[in-house]
Amino acid sequence: MGTGYTETQLRAAVADAVRAPSLHNTQPWRFRLRDGGIEVSVDPARRLPATDPSGWGTRIAGGAALFNLRLSLAVAGTPATVRLRPYPADPDVLARLVPELPRRPTPTEQSLYAAIGRRFSNRAPFWPDPVPADARWRLGEAARAEQCWLELVIGVSAVNAFAEIARSAHRVLERDPAYRAERADWVRTEPAPDGVPARAGGPQAEPQDLLPSRGFGGLDRAPGRDFEPEPLVAVLGAAGNTVVDQVLAGQALQRVLLTATDAGLAVSMLSQPIEVSGAREALRLSLGRFGTPQMVMRIGYGQPGMATPRRTVDEVLDVAVAPG
Ligand SMILES: Cc1cc2nc3c(=O)[nH]c(=O)nc-3n(C[C@H](O)[C@H](O)[C@H](O)COP(=O)(O)O)c2cc1C
Repeated sequence: MGTGYTETQLRAAVADAVRAPSLHNTQPWRFRLRDGGIEVSVDPARRLPATDPSGWGTRIAGGAALFNLRLSLAVAGTPATVRLRPYPADPDVLARLVPELPRRPTPTEQSLYAAIGRRFSNRAPFWPDPVPADARWRLGEAARAEQCWLELVIGVSAVNAFAEIARSAHRVLERDPAYRAERADWVRTEPAPDGVPARAGGPQAEPQDLLPSRGFGGLDRAPGRDFEPEPLVAVLGAAGNTVVDQVLAGQALQRVLLTATDAGLAVSMLSQPIEVSGAREALRLSLGRFGTPQMVMRIGYGQPGMATPRRTVDEVLDVAVAPG
């Protein structure tokens, strides 16, 4: 309702938005101010052609960045009304945010906002402590609040069945040399503004591991430092698989991740079973759900993760283009 966002508000919110996760830390997003509205777009130049041919990952990441942007604006007292895919002719524009009536942020917005800078992917083994029921419930609520669902994979046989699907998807992906080359291209051993620092990539995979790790890592593993035997696996899904569903799933993902951070939980993502369509369908059937699985998370308690780099705000801003 207000007159529109200013460049100062845009810059402050984008600094929070870019803390969102993205496939291989590609940060495939752009932001701009147009006619007083903030627009969030995918950056097609940052899509991974071999790993993400459909662009699904760019829209999940864009949705996650959009969620941070919404939180940041709300906590600044200038909440937004969001329209998803505002221009049918331009599917790369994921959302347009215009100011709604100013109001005070809610306690939930404040605590989720405070978690943005403390959320990191944690690919290390977690402690065996179970995630308590109230935290599980909060995670499910976080997904539902963003029009998605979260299914927890409970029990040894369900976890083993999931692991089988995930490992087979991993094997399919690993057979593709272009996929492997792309991953190698995004692992960083020197300081860089994007990509996955090898130190954050988790430990070397070992044959006894239940779940497949993506293989960014290289850290040696202390003998006996194995992954938790019965991880809490959570599958996030949307009603369908349109561009809008994927942006909703990205927002829900970030809300779940921030809720987990706020509850003192560590999370790593594993998306191989989402990227291989046969595996995704097997996963959906195993859950007995309608809709489309959009992300898988491993959730537990662990040592604090480590921050990964981001490009600067200037690098992700587009200068406004005059309409017409
Ligand atoms: C769509 C998507 C898929 C991802 N898939 C994986 C994955 O399969 N394995 C993994 O270890 N991390 C995965 N990640 C996590 C990213 O690698 C991570 O977000 C990125 O490196 C930035 O690090 P941060 O999450 O610590 O900020 C994924 C993230 C997104 C958004």
